[in-house]
Amino acid sequence: MSSTIEIAVVGSGYVGLVAAVCFAEMGHQVTCVDNDPRKVAALQGGDSLIHEEHLPELLQRYRNGRVTFTTNLGEATAKAQAIFIAVGTPQSDTGHADLSYVEAVACEIARHLDNYKVIVEKSTVPVYTNEWIRRSIERNGVDRKMFDVVSNPEFLREGSAVSDFLHPDRIVVGADSERAAEVLKAIYAPLTDGSYYDQQGIIPGRFSSSEPPPLLLTSTKSAEIIKHASNAFLALKISFINAVANLCEATDANVQQVAQGMGLDSRIGPKFLRPGIGYGGSCFPKDVAAFRSVADQMGVDFALLTEVEKINATQRKRFLSKVRSALWTLRGKRLGVLGLAFKGDTDDIRDSPAIEMVKMLLGEGCSINAFDPAGMERSEAVLPAGDKLKYAADAYAAAEDADALLILTDWPEFATLNLGKLRTALRYPILVDGRNMFEPAVAAQAGFNYYSVGRPAAHPTRDEVA
Ligand code: UDX
Ligand code: UDX
Repeated sequence: MSSTIEIAVVGSGYVGLVAAVCFAEMGHQVTCVDNDPRKVAALQGGDSLIHEEHLPELLQRYRNGRVTFTTNLGEATAKAQAIFIAVGTPQSDTGHADLSYVEAVACEIARHLDNYKVIVEKSTVPVYTNEWIRRSIERNGVDRKMFDVVSNPEFLREGSAVSDFLHPDRIVVGADSERAAEVLKAIYAPLTDGSYYDQQGIIPGRFSSSEPPPLLLTSTKSAEIIKHASNAFLALKISFINAVANLCEATDANVQQVAQGMGLDSRIGPKFLRPGIGYGGSCFPKDVAAFRSVADQMGVDFALLTEVEKINATQRKRFLSKVRSALWTLRGKRLGVLGLAFKGDTDDIRDSPAIEMVKMLLGEGCSINAFDPAGMERSEAVLPAGDKLKYAADAYAAAEDADALLILTDWPEFATLNLGKLRTALRYPILVDGRNMFEPAVAAQAGFNYYSVGRPAAHPTRDEVA
């Protein structure tokens, strides 16, 4: 029988908020702390603030009950057995992770430690952060016996964050003390003993009570490296397939067939082999840079990561050239743009390749009519609408009277758009797809001159044009 644990989660962003409501869903009592009072008020009122499947329903179910929201870290610390730190770890100018938020939170926690507590780093942090948190708490006069610091990296993906959290491929617990490891094991017991999956109305996913997810116990340093290495490896996989896509373009091969052929090898696997306009988001770019920077600091040559970044940056430039060669010149062209978020199913535009493309195209003198199913509000905050940039009500409105339509984000609903209707809306039937959402032959049959990534361009036959 799993027991209820008092948990504090510090930071109510994509990671912290999802962790908070999911811990409640697992039966724990959670205080979610954020230093932004407007966020706290919105969350108390039931506004989940981010676009994430299942999040509104879990927030509705547990807010002001099993999950409370506050700005008061001291109070939350005092009553918690475990405190998860999930504040941001942005990239500094040098590529290092900026850990000042983590440090500030650790110091504040130190001021309110009056009995044994486990402090858990959930944010993605470089190796040795665990040790720094411990030192910083000790420096604030706390007896070493009063606390342990544990590393419990989070692997959730935006867009499927809730189900990733409750159906994790693995739970990694980096603990250098048995006592702390036991607390973490108890927190995750509803998942690892399978009892969560036996309940009615659970969030669906791949695990069941007969096949629960594994929990891997490691040292704190290994756990920190597992997180960075995993993200860097996934980024590497994407850059690899993007480089292969470029080779396919140069040789008239088809990267989709190549990726399929590679992915059928169980040692390689089919996932994260989708070429496109490069990876983005709040994690991969900053985590690859931070991991490289850690290696540098430790005197380890990890130039491979520099290549990963280089390919990623080149991929966007190549796409711009592709648009240019489809249109001949760019200045004065009117473009419809589908997608602004860094990937489908999220409203997050942090480090979005789509936003960067829009900026580049505006810089080239194009005017843009953009549509994204969830990311337009956030986009408007960084790219305000004006003469050259408009936001459209839907995909067809974005295409209206445009010289070409570009797909920049892999929203699943883009794949089901009516190509005939899009073609009619456009001034010229040109579709430049940065996410390979359509089969080239299908797009050509619908009358499009279709350009995608790593696959031969497709053009309509004379009948299809008519
Ligand atoms: C962030 C990091 O990007 C990621 O690497 C890490 O694993 C977890 O934290 P995310 O949840 O997406 O991920 O960040 P963000 O949406 O920026 O949320 C951080 C929250 O912490 C914000 O709500 C912010 O207001 C809050 N915060 C920040 C604090 O409560 N206290 C602080 O001192 C700083
Ligand atoms: C990532 C990790 O997957 C997750 O485990 C970690 O906790 C946080 O970072 P996330 O950033 O939410 O998650 O999205 P992800 O699905 O990994 O995509 C990242 C970027 O890579 C997106 O821009 C996406 O479009 C791109 N991508 C992904 C590709 O270009 N090709 C692929 O095959 C997969």
